[in-house]
Amino acid sequence: MDKQKIVIANWKMNLSPADSLNLAEAIITKLAEIKPLQAQTVLCPDFLSLSGVAQKIKEQSISLGAQDCFWEPSGAYTGEVSPQFLRELGCAYVIIGHSERRQYMAETDEQINLKVKAALANSLIPVICVGETFEERQEGNKDFVISQQVSVALKGVKLLDQDKVIIAYEPVWVIGSGQAVAPEEAEHAHRVIRQVLIDHFSINAVNGQIKIIYGGSVKPNNVGNFLIQPAIDGILVGGASLEAESFAELVKQANL
Ligand code: PGA
Repeated sequence: MDKQKIVIANWKMNLSPADSLNLAEAIITKLAEIKPLQAQTVLCPDFLSLSGVAQKIKEQSISLGAQDCFWEPSGAYTGEVSPQFLRELGCAYVIIGHSERRQYMAETDEQINLKVKAALANSLIPVICVGETFEERQEGNKDFVISQQVSVALKGVKLLDQDKVIIAYEPVWVIGSGQAVAPEEAEHAHRVIRQVLIDHFSINAVNGQIKIIYGGSVKPNNVGNFLIQPAIDGILVGGASLEAESFAELVKQANL
């Protein structure tokens, strides 16, 4: 992929549709101060807020993403959300396999694999979340767990020339904790992920079509240390994306 860093806001289930519109507007105002805006910026509101936010950002160089999708394009799947319809609404990205979905909705690596394929089939860029729990880390299984998650998520995936993929390394135990991992440690995990990707795809595809980003308690005061790591192509942000000022500050620091 290009060299631009990417900053993805994951608003989770924190904001009502009205709050989401207000925040999108405040972010647009703040980002207008960054000239030129080079970093790629993606907002991922909850499903109910997607179309409103899509309208707000349509003239902006900000992209839209969803927080999940189902693996079928349409049909009798009560309550599920189609990747095809997300695309129709203006989404370019979709977060898949976030640790909160793995934990609370018991999402498996196999389901994540189906969703990744469905996202790509519908011209969405999957943002595939992987990361170890605290116990897995204590047991010394971190690299194995991450490699396994990436491997299964990408099983049977064939990247066409126009396809893009993002892998988000998010150590589960630091998400929302206020305490990020050491940037050098994240860099190591990114290199492990890169090796797994090279097992699956050509080196050209890995260099040209895949970004590996970090998530987990990224804040304006620590983001710079992540972004200077050579294998870190961007960030996935929860808490610090819920406030226009701090989010814009992250984008500013990612703006090369
Ligand atoms: P956090 O969340 O920035 O609040 O730690 C990150 C995420 O869950 O993607």
